[in-house]
Amino acid sequence: MPTDFEKIVKFRVSRRVVLGGSAAFSAVAFMTAATPVATRTADRFNFMPVAANGLDTVTVPTGYSWHVVAKWGDPLWSNGVPFDHETRGTRESQERAVGDNNDGMALFTHGEKNILAVNNEYVNREIFFGNRVSNRPEGADDVRKSKAAVGVSIFEIGFQGGEWSIVMDSALNRRITADTPMELTGPARGHDLVRTEEDPEGTSVKGTWANCGIGRTPWETYLTCEENFDGYFTSNDRGFEPSPELKRYSVGLKDWGNDWATTDERFDFSKHPNEPNRVGYVVEIDPLDPTSTPKKRTALGRFKHENAELVVTDTGRIVVYMGDDERDEFLYKFVSDGRYIEGGNNESLLEKGTLFAAKFEGNLRGRWLALTPATTGMSSQAEICIHTRQAASVVGATTMDRPEWVAAHPKKAEIYCALTNNKHRGKKSNKGDNATPIGGPNPRESNKYGQIVRWTPDGGDHESTGFSWSLFVMAGNPTVHSDADAGSKNINTGNMFNSPDGIAFDTNGLLWIQTDGDYTDKGDFAGMGNNQMLVGNPETGEIRRFLVGPKGCEVTGLTWAADRRTLFVGIQHPGEKGSKSNFPDGGDAVPRSSIVAITKDDGGFIG
Ligand code: FEO
Ligand code: CA
Ligand code: CA
Ligand code: CA
Repeated sequence: MPTDFEKIVKFRVSRRVVLGGSAAFSAVAFMTAATPVATRTADRFNFMPVAANGLDTVTVPTGYSWHVVAKWGDPLWSNGVPFDHETRGTRESQERAVGDNNDGMALFTHGEKNILAVNNEYVNREIFFGNRVSNRPEGADDVRKSKAAVGVSIFEIGFQGGEWSIVMDSALNRRITADTPMELTGPARGHDLVRTEEDPEGTSVKGTWANCGIGRTPWETYLTCEENFDGYFTSNDRGFEPSPELKRYSVGLKDWGNDWATTDERFDFSKHPNEPNRVGYVVEIDPLDPTSTPKKRTALGRFKHENAELVVTDTGRIVVYMGDDERDEFLYKFVSDGRYIEGGNNESLLEKGTLFAAKFEGNLRGRWLALTPATTGMSSQAEICIHTRQAASVVGATTMDRPEWVAAHPKKAEIYCALTNNKHRGKKSNKGDNATPIGGPNPRESNKYGQIVRWTPDGGDHESTGFSWSLFVMAGNPTVHSDADAGSKNINTGNMFNSPDGIAFDTNGLLWIQTDGDYTDKGDFAGMGNNQMLVGNPETGEIRRFLVGPKGCEVTGLTWAADRRTLFVGIQHPGEKGSKSNFPDGGDAVPRSSIVAITKDDGGFIG
């Protein structure tokens, strides 16, 4: 596979890793600065790059504009109340309002209606409970307020007077929270490990939380991915030792200050050890039916799901690519048994299939290793779908530098995954005692900048178990470093960034890259400014910065209007960790996670 790489990573990486095929390698290319963006020829980008900055606003290229569509705490119904900057909302107001920390999202179009489904990943305690001296929930109502601020917000939006805004009281508006009833489907349904006192059948679960990236199906359902679910469980008996199985998922005494177990016993694993087995899944939601019961699709495995990228194969099977975002966990794919039928009943396609974990090999080749009772020695597919990490450890999958979003090229069989960073690479094994060797798609020790790996399935067939891979980019800082930490050749002083996270392709085959990294603008990160969004050209390797977010934010989540004339982008947790933002309301306002719409001033297409 041809790549644009000419730079080699110290001596640890085989030249072929970064060169691919026959691209010319030279020591000169390694030593010299990357070619400035302006000297490149073919320009598919349609915008001039934005400079890095540390401003408390959204910066977009000349000729583009942005406006806020929805913010944490905006009411979805007229029986809600506008956000109160003093109290930062109450349990009652939050139950009727957009959740906090918006992450992945998808816009669905139904006739004349536009319905936005957006994940609410977690709450920022210092901001969410900034009205409390402790910056923590103080009492049952506060806990319920935070349980109402996570999950998924689904609401209709309308375009009026040149701006998008929430359609209050739309019949399609819905809040899904940590208490919404859902169904367990697939192999783990009814298994001993998911049965609890409250649900002795092991079929119905309360709520979803830690909702990170997303997926959408060709049958127009929304997939919300449960990621850092462990940070909500604890044991009120401080001497209680979690099982090794729970420890593999980082479930322990630390609940990250959420305090849910103080008022809701199901988050106390000493009393309900199977509760953590009922989260960590991909959940399928029908965004057009507010009365529908969300379905946890256990066939797609249980881990810290980042997103779920779907592809329909030539034979109609559904392949779902998924990352497990924890240091040195794995990359997965699911291949459905059933086949997609356009306009048919595809309701159970994600209930049955085969799970695979990726093994990357040194010769730029890789294999998908099936996770079955035969390959893992586990007793059943149900157990594999609950203890998926353990299954992937047994077969020898490759420990990765924190797989975040996966994105499939719309025009060819090529898949990309953002590997955000990994301070443990080469230093520490993962929680399953798997080694973390430096090399392959994880070429840098204590990786602080991240990279994007891509692969092509053999024969262009997503059902193939073999693939060829290369690195699309290694992020880095060429002003501070001259070794591998300078980044790959397509990184320069005008486009440098760290910690790629959200990625998605537009219809033109350009890759949009969002960052969740260090925004100190100092030391290793000097010159990078706030978190940002860039656009990459898979063919040339060129990467150009499109947007800079406000202070302290992560830029995460993107979706397009059906006419491709609006791009919706998520600004998550501006002002976190004392970064002093008042985005987007300004003045002395409480910073609020927001969804912004970006349009082109001439009304043209964006992506
Ligand atoms: Fe929620 Fe891995 O990001
Ligand atoms: Ca993410
Ligand atoms: Ca991240
Ligand atoms: Ca985040």
